[in-house]
Amino acid sequence: MHTLPGFPDIEHQDELESAADMSMIRMALPAHAGRDAKRVAVVNSKGGTGKSTIAMNLAAYYASRNVPTTVYDFDPQESAAAWVTERSADATLVSAVTAARKPDAGTTRTWQLRAPENTRRIILDTPAGLGGNSLLEVVRCVDSLIVPVAPSPIDSRATARFVQELLLVGKAREHRVRIAVVANRHRRDSSVCPALARFLLALHIPIVTVLSDSNLYLQAAERGVGLHELPFADTQVELRRWRPLLRWLEAGFVRKSVPCAADRECLATARPARHA
Ligand SMILES: Nc1ncnc2c1ncn2[C@@H]1O[C@H](COP(=O)(O)OP(=O)(O)O)[C@@H](O)[C@H]1O
Ligand SMILES: [Mg+2]
Repeated sequence: MHTLPGFPDIEHQDELESAADMSMIRMALPAHAGRDAKRVAVVNSKGGTGKSTIAMNLAAYYASRNVPTTVYDFDPQESAAAWVTERSADATLVSAVTAARKPDAGTTRTWQLRAPENTRRIILDTPAGLGGNSLLEVVRCVDSLIVPVAPSPIDSRATARFVQELLLVGKAREHRVRIAVVANRHRRDSSVCPALARFLLALHIPIVTVLSDSNLYLQAAERGVGLHELPFADTQVELRRWRPLLRWLEAGFVRKSVPCAADRECLATARPARHA
């Protein structure tokens, strides 16, 4: 079989589930992860909206705050898991679970989905096409959902439909799961589609921040880091755009349960700096 150095063996594709297999995740997380680890999933059934990019940069943010984090990669493409493997400095801070693979022979699915005991933040990176029961499973096992949307009419329409599915099929409101939309890949001349903005406003779903279309994300991904780990002089403008998202996430986590010292630290550091 022909293989490319540094890329997974084609034969290994047999181990990957063809559809997102979210079964057991809801049981596995409370059983194996730090019981009060806070959980967020990055979701949109549309591909290429920035789910993996946001998942990786969130994990990097928590690593930069010394908060042990596990990324569950449910996408057979395994971009987020590969990014974690690239990281060297903080192997103990960011772990990856390659959740799209079938468990090895003799391993149960719940065992495969375990996270290190010290995990405090769990980030689910999900594949395109997420819907139906898989979507319901995800909604039921997280505290918050981030929905990235790219600034094209096609993406906006697909995202409106997906948000509808989150509410109707995923029953996000019944499960008291918070939802925020992140407008991703914005250039100076692009804006959030007005129809999508009105739709979200009517549903009380915030567009919590607007992230730029920036090479910084590509450079960071290549190096196995996130924006919060690149030199501040290069990233400070874009990092300001991350603060509302981090604040929204951490404030929700704190409200949902009795916060521990690490949670309070995360919330404090996600607040705007005085000089901003
Ligand atoms: N804010 C951004 N600026 C520049 N490129 C981005 C940004 N967000 C995502 N990308 C790029 O867009 C492509 C799709 O992003 P990705 O995170 O893989 O989307 P998804 O996981 O939703 O399929 C990738 O090449 C990624 O590097
Ligand atoms: Mg992805």
